[in-house]
Amino acid sequence: MQYYENIVKKRNSCRGFSARKVPEEALAGIRKYYEDVESVLVEGIGTELKFYSSDSYELLKQHVGYNGICIKAPNYLVLYSDKADHYLENAGYIAQGMTLMMAELGLASCWMTIDDAAAVKKALSEDNGMEVACVVAFGYRDPENKEKRAPKITIEELCLGKDFRTEANLVRLTRELEDCLRACAHSQSFLNLQPYRLLVDYDRVSLVGLPSEMTNEADRRLNYGIVMFNFYSVMWAVRPSAPKWSFEPPERDLRLPEDVEYVASIRI
Ligand SMILES: Cc1cc2nc3c(=O)[nH]c(=O)nc-3n(C[C@H](O)[C@H](O)[C@H](O)COP(=O)(O)O)c2cc1C
Repeated sequence: MQYYENIVKKRNSCRGFSARKVPEEALAGIRKYYEDVESVLVEGIGTELKFYSSDSYELLKQHVGYNGICIKAPNYLVLYSDKADHYLENAGYIAQGMTLMMAELGLASCWMTIDDAAAVKKALSEDNGMEVACVVAFGYRDPENKEKRAPKITIEELCLGKDFRTEANLVRLTRELEDCLRACAHSQSFLNLQPYRLLVDYDRVSLVGLPSEMTNEADRRLNYGIVMFNFYSVMWAVRPSAPKWSFEPPERDLRLPEDVEYVASIRI
């Protein structure tokens, strides 16, 4: 369907931005989306959105970006959050919504790993009592940037059946659900490792996390928020009353190996 094909599938990371300034109207559009759209995963967790200009590159570069490389961009989005259960999944979910909104506005973006959240906050001279949960570089893609698209797992690799030891039966999927799963398979993740799987039962999809030595706790939780938002965004585009992800423990035995963690599930 259109939202998956036109937005989710087309959104890929950018590491070469042009110097072109993002107009104030576009920043206002992203802020309006953040303030108005009901795109939170966990109700009641306070968050604050701040935009920073390219001047902040010097402040961020010590503490943000893998392999010691912070991406130079005309703008950075920082999402601050109160600390609460699942606040990082919630922040990943909210910020992913904003990166897809950016894609709709013709902007490119790149998630940035955070080495030291407290140091980022100090460097930005912020004192709002919240944690730095996400940093995203954004702006217009440099037309000379010939960056290749990252390869993604297929839905056949991503999905399992009703439990971890049962194969998925993807033959009878509705088109709507298939696109939701494709959106998950296309999700952004730390180092593109995609260390998670979906268990697809007849009435419920469950997200489980695979062990990944390279992914730290914060990035793992952001990954989960991103994948849950991608699923929800495609569902929501056709059904605004779409059910939401729940962290309630599973009612059925998902037969998970010891090193696989249950994350959340959604009714379908
Ligand atoms: C939590 C998280 C942290 C990331 N950190 C970085 C980073 O520090 N530097 C970078 O170049 N890309 C970073 N990325 C972007 C991923 O490398 C990228 O999403 C992945 O390779 C998939 O490519 P795509 O975004 O084009 O789909 C991060 C992504 C996530 C989700």
